[in-house]
Amino acid sequence: MAKSKRKTKSKGRRSGESVKTRGKNAKSKTKAKSKSKKARSEKPAAAKKAPLARKSAARKKAKPGAPTASPPHTEPVRAAEEPASKPARERYYLTTPIFYPNGVPHIGHAYTVLASDAIARFQRLDGKDVFFLTGTDEHGLKMKQTAIAEGLTPQQLADRNSQRFRDAWSALDISQDAFIRTTEPRHYRASQAIWERMQKAGDIYLGKYAGWYSVRQEGYFLEKETTLGPDGVRREPLGSPVDWTEESSYFFRLSAYQERLLAYYDKHPDFIGPAERRNEVVSFVKGGLEDLSISRPTLDWGIPVPSDPKHVMYVWVDALTNYLTGVSYPDTDSAEFRRYWPADLHVIGKDIVRFHAVYWPAFLMSAGIAPPRRIFSHGFVLNRGEKMSKSVGNVVDPLALVAAYGIDQLRYFLLREVPFGQDGTYSHEAIVARINADLANDLGNLAQRSLSMINKQLDGVLPEPAAFSAADRALLDAADAMIGKAREAMKVQALHQVLAAVWAVVAEANRYFALEAPWALAKTDPARQRTVLYVTAEVIRQVAILAQPFTPIAAGKLLDLLAVPAGERSFLVLGGDQRIAAGAKLPAPAPAFPRYVESEASP
Ligand code: MSP
Repeated sequence: MAKSKRKTKSKGRRSGESVKTRGKNAKSKTKAKSKSKKARSEKPAAAKKAPLARKSAARKKAKPGAPTASPPHTEPVRAAEEPASKPARERYYLTTPIFYPNGVPHIGHAYTVLASDAIARFQRLDGKDVFFLTGTDEHGLKMKQTAIAEGLTPQQLADRNSQRFRDAWSALDISQDAFIRTTEPRHYRASQAIWERMQKAGDIYLGKYAGWYSVRQEGYFLEKETTLGPDGVRREPLGSPVDWTEESSYFFRLSAYQERLLAYYDKHPDFIGPAERRNEVVSFVKGGLEDLSISRPTLDWGIPVPSDPKHVMYVWVDALTNYLTGVSYPDTDSAEFRRYWPADLHVIGKDIVRFHAVYWPAFLMSAGIAPPRRIFSHGFVLNRGEKMSKSVGNVVDPLALVAAYGIDQLRYFLLREVPFGQDGTYSHEAIVARINADLANDLGNLAQRSLSMINKQLDGVLPEPAAFSAADRALLDAADAMIGKAREAMKVQALHQVLAAVWAVVAEANRYFALEAPWALAKTDPARQRTVLYVTAEVIRQVAILAQPFTPIAAGKLLDLLAVPAGERSFLVLGGDQRIAAGAKLPAPAPAFPRYVESEASP
């Protein structure tokens, strides 16, 4: 794992200073339609004419920085998800971390990007003008060393592996609007510009850096953190060898930002989520900040320091600046920058919180740029409770999981099973249990049974309901309430709670279906059967619309089976203002969520 690396940066010291032993690990608005406005009557809303023919914009937005070589995403997703553009659509800029392409993508990387993708899709469906950025972080010593080991230049390694990330994201159906690479000229320009701004502000000075340096971790360690092995090799806590290194370095005056950062956290209580991470950050900053080494004279694989090109920027200034490059910084007058900065959300893993919640806002304050609105840190996904590592040999290829279980199934599992923000674990058994219980049985069967009944007994025509009973209304009310709950949960990135709210309604719908027993009503009370099937179809419609960010393909299939037009799949048609149109001819039903059946080939 390329992770703990940069955590130790500040452990080095400027020469002449004593090593400090801090004893610290230096390592919306929503478009919610007011429900009160809703005229919910005994008369089924289907009877109201629902002016739903929203034009689904298959148009491609001209998003900043979109790569020209390979399109960021396929058109169909956009067609299904983008409500017609309105002049004053609220914007939403979200990012993933940019990934180190010194190896291939693993399930931990996929987790970050899948969760971010679900958020991006959710916000698009909720009517926002979303700009979703991901990419690769291509500089640094580790890239250089991996390249040498593979007989490649760092650029060749970056080109090859960045493409692997891009391919993996496309196999995972990620809907990014742009993919940034830190080796692109536009990013050099942005990084040098922010450096110059920080220098002008008097926050960058030349000093000396010294300490026990681990190449593998890309970080310095205090002597007391290292151990001298019987083989005469000194190692850092994770076991990689360290060498005593002294070099000149530019420093960022982070120590000057303690009060400003604390004031910022205070004024913006939602800046860091979840709360545990926020508390850790606040107490870290309260403990005092050391200046930060931000350049290396010994490395040639990086962005040159503008005033002193012998030095390259130390990777985090370069890496974090990608979020600005993606929206055309330093062209602060550009339409992209003006529209999308500050970012609404940086999704990150818990190992890189400090870089995003402490260093990044300090850099931005120094450069006179507004900090992002929110940073949300998720936990780690562990393979049967164990951290993945190349040496343990349990690194999981997300594409192998997709091949074994399906994209939607993997997405659903990861986002439902693991409370977003906490660590979680996965195993074959747990994935299969979720696929078969939640997807195949609860939602898949309900859809299949009700739609087959409509197909066989009602000539495939969605029936006109009679007056709703108390049970019908209770279920419809529960379905109508989902969008409000989902929006609330999404405000704090509680993705698992969005799904829990939706699947609670699926469970209610199953109870309703079993109690109402529409199969038995065919002979005894056909009008009632039609109403029960209508209500069930309406609930499945709302469930499927809300499931789109999480299981886009299967949800789309369900909506096809319900003959819901592409332009009527956004969240604007949820909540009971509009109901599924009776009288529609439905296609022959087909399972949207197949059961997972164990086979010889099962993992
Ligand atoms: N390049 C830096 C990020 C720079 S952002 C300006 C980096 N790259 S990384 O490839 O090592 O990690 C990218 C993301 O993957 C991080 O958010 C990290 O938390 C996440 N994950 C890596 N392994 C993970 C798991 N096992 N589980 C969940 N997420 C994990 O850090």
